[in-house]
Amino acid sequence: MALTTSPQTVPMPAAFQPSVALAAELLQVYGSPLYVYDGDRLQETLRHITQAIPYPRTRFHFATVTNGNIALLQIVRDAGWGLHANTPGDIYLGLQAGFEPEAIVYSGSNLSRDDMAQVLVWAIATLNLDSLAQLEQLCESCQTLDSANRPPSLRLGLRLNDPALTGDSRIGVRPEEFAAAQILVDRANESMGSETIKLCGLHFYRGTGTNATQAFTQVIDRVLELGQRLPDWAYLDFGGGFGHSYRHGGAAFDWLAFGQAITARLNQLPHAVDLVIEPGRAAIAGCAALLTTVVSVKWQDDRQIVGVDTTVANLSVPSVHGGYREVVALATRPSPSTYPTDVCGNTTYSRDYLGRNCQLPKLAPGDVLAILDVGAYGYAMASHFLHRPRPAEVLLESGQHRLIRQRESYQSLLQNQIF
Ligand SMILES: Cc1ncc(COP(=O)(O)O)c(C=O)c1O
Repeated sequence: MALTTSPQTVPMPAAFQPSVALAAELLQVYGSPLYVYDGDRLQETLRHITQAIPYPRTRFHFATVTNGNIALLQIVRDAGWGLHANTPGDIYLGLQAGFEPEAIVYSGSNLSRDDMAQVLVWAIATLNLDSLAQLEQLCESCQTLDSANRPPSLRLGLRLNDPALTGDSRIGVRPEEFAAAQILVDRANESMGSETIKLCGLHFYRGTGTNATQAFTQVIDRVLELGQRLPDWAYLDFGGGFGHSYRHGGAAFDWLAFGQAITARLNQLPHAVDLVIEPGRAAIAGCAALLTTVVSVKWQDDRQIVGVDTTVANLSVPSVHGGYREVVALATRPSPSTYPTDVCGNTTYSRDYLGRNCQLPKLAPGDVLAILDVGAYGYAMASHFLHRPRPAEVLLESGQHRLIRQRESYQSLLQNQIF
């Protein structure tokens, strides 16, 4: 299964990095700091992933937990992908972006009764559930809605918990609970006098940010074996969790090898099932950069300490949640040497580093830096912690740019406060 290149498949594009001239233009029009998305690159990435999996019954669903900007979701929708929702809020955003309810797969955890009723009223018909208690609750919620207010048929999946496959995870249902799950569904259908609910899915989630392709390919056989224990098995949802190479040139998840491996195994099943793939990070991480402007420079011995006009609250991933993002100086003057540099946010929070030990040229106030690969879990995880308003977001498409989210103002910090 060593097939890693194919003439028909669009290659995975390199991380988006705006040119010096484009960055200067965007900052002049929209201000700094600024999230900039490359829509063309997003389309290419979706194409690469789509073409990598030749299995004909595959459906791709973008995991909007990583990025909920409606303009970007519309690009995903126009590429023929569905949406994967982690929460009712994800579903709401997906519906606003124009996804049909049947194009939304929901994998839930710890839903309240109200959450479940809402999801059913929105007519979401494919749901992966986390426990027998949640399954029982969903069956109850389905029975209490009148038939006009619930989807005509519900495809339920069990989120798999098997420590050998999923590691030590709070999520999911153990294989030894599958039979009890089937009994709950049979009872609910009996009491409704219909076959509304089908327990027909198995959902596997490896955990986010896994670059080792084998971590996925090694478990396929066992996951398929477990799926066949469900009498009405009709779909395999294989996550989620596919890595992205933040260290450019470093280990990256190999979509082609994965696509070949999963296709070969699924083709051997005695009866065909649908495959659902729901990448978030891998689809969008490389499509955005956060532009920021240097406001202050000082030296501590040989180390350059650069202060910028953004903060980890605008991009919490690198310093609060760990992980590396490349920081690039968009230089307008030649710089023969680079120096160990810490890129520090505009607050006194002790963890406010956007980058540590970066190798950057001598910088001065007014210089522009680009923090790369911030399309996933970037703006989506930005918060009002530290009380800096959030940046604007801009989309580049076919050589044009447009604002897709306004910059916040100090007034945004008052929203919903009562005083
Ligand atoms: C069930 C499920 N699917 C998909 C995703 C997206 O994961 P990733 O961005 O690692 O692809 C998540 C992330 O939390 C998830 O919980």
